[in-house]
Amino acid sequence: MPSHIASKFEKPMKSARPISDDAIAAMLTREHALFLQRNPNSQALAARSARHWLRRVPMFWMEDWRTPFPLFIERAAGVELTDADGNNYIDFCLGDTGAMFGHGPQPLLDTLCRQGAQGLTTMLPSPDAAIVGTLLADRFGLPVWQVTATASDANRSVLRWARAVTGRDRILVFNGNYHGAVDDTFVRLEDGKPRSDPGLIGEPRDLTQFTSVIEFNDVPALEQALAARDIACVLAEPVMTNCGMVLPDPDFHRALRELTRSTKTLLVIDETHCMSSGPGGYSRAHGLEPDAIVLGKPIAGGVPAAAYGVAEHFADRIDTYLAARPSGHSGIGTTLSGSAIQLALMRTMLETYFTPETFEPLLILAERLETGLADLFRTRAIPWHVVRVGARVEFMCAPLPPRNGGEAMKIIGRPIDRAVHHYLLNRGLVITPFHNMMLICPATKRSHVDALIAGIDACLAELIAAGS
Ligand SMILES: Cc1ncc(COP(=O)(O)O)c(C=O)c1O
Repeated sequence: MPSHIASKFEKPMKSARPISDDAIAAMLTREHALFLQRNPNSQALAARSARHWLRRVPMFWMEDWRTPFPLFIERAAGVELTDADGNNYIDFCLGDTGAMFGHGPQPLLDTLCRQGAQGLTTMLPSPDAAIVGTLLADRFGLPVWQVTATASDANRSVLRWARAVTGRDRILVFNGNYHGAVDDTFVRLEDGKPRSDPGLIGEPRDLTQFTSVIEFNDVPALEQALAARDIACVLAEPVMTNCGMVLPDPDFHRALRELTRSTKTLLVIDETHCMSSGPGGYSRAHGLEPDAIVLGKPIAGGVPAAAYGVAEHFADRIDTYLAARPSGHSGIGTTLSGSAIQLALMRTMLETYFTPETFEPLLILAERLETGLADLFRTRAIPWHVVRVGARVEFMCAPLPPRNGGEAMKIIGRPIDRAVHHYLLNRGLVITPFHNMMLICPATKRSHVDALIAGIDACLAELIAAGS
């Protein structure tokens, strides 16, 4: 297995200790009481926010931490958060990747001030455009780029281009995917049958009309789905990272590339999370040859910006398409995309952080976290496993890694995840709320990693003691 990608798991342990539902429920009750005690100022802010914000928060997912009320964060710097009650945290969530290089690193702050004084947005390119285009091509290996405001937008744009240049209506995604707020991708397999995601809000259309969905790592299903040659593109994360973490089988990407090529289907790799793999993302680290790449969250250090790059042949087809396109709104692009501030920040991030020198220590620390957790689960005979993609580590509360989204979705989002998250939060350790993802950034130190391992160990000790 290449060194950027790893999975530490063993065969299921014979003497594995189950954690009882009662122990989990008791921990959640206790931790919620402690949360109330520790956070009176956040509680007061939540009460004040209740009248004018939907669900008390400026963006309703902020409630997905499922604490008794949202934690209000006063300051984020480097790897540390301070909440409205003065509690300090070591942040392994890092804005779910937006702050992958830490909160407010100095080069980013300098650029914000400098470019802020020179103009934020003009609807015209700034001189940085010439440099950022070259940097993106150099780092990520595709020649032609566009900037959007979010990764959701970048994915939406690429889907439009793919449909436009191929003249095919359908796209294909993998079960359990998340590519942002992109309507076309909200399709799931239920008992093996495709259906629109029931959780999608306000969607009147049957999305399976134009989107096919199969399981990740299922090469025969892929072959069958592409056989009719009516799929414009496959949109995939190289490693699934939004339903826990699902690694590709050793030959999966080769098969995906061969089958998409032989059926003239475009291959779009969404690197938004897997940019944690190295300075050229997962595709560069593993020699994938996508027709398009999507980059998001950390590309401008956490200020909204994303980018997509396309191969020369794809760009040529876009040119041909545009030459014959009737007039009218294109449905691609937004006013704040490609702004001077985005370009300035992307330049800083690409020059300073998307380098082998930045990534090397991150990968070493991520491996320390991965190995430390794997050892811990083994020592405590807890049947959980750990997976890593570069600087991104995930533990899943099941003995073996899932092979696809269907398997993964059965493992995540259970009360055990919430109990662990809330236990850690009350002890100054933050991991992502949706599943058990932990990111290492340049400001993360060995002591931070060791504190997280110790925190999870203490949590398990309590759960085991309560369950026996
Ligand atoms: C793989 C992937 N693509 C796209 C997105 C959308 O990013 P944004 O919310 O910044 O639009 C996400 C968000 O988590 C993601 O995980």
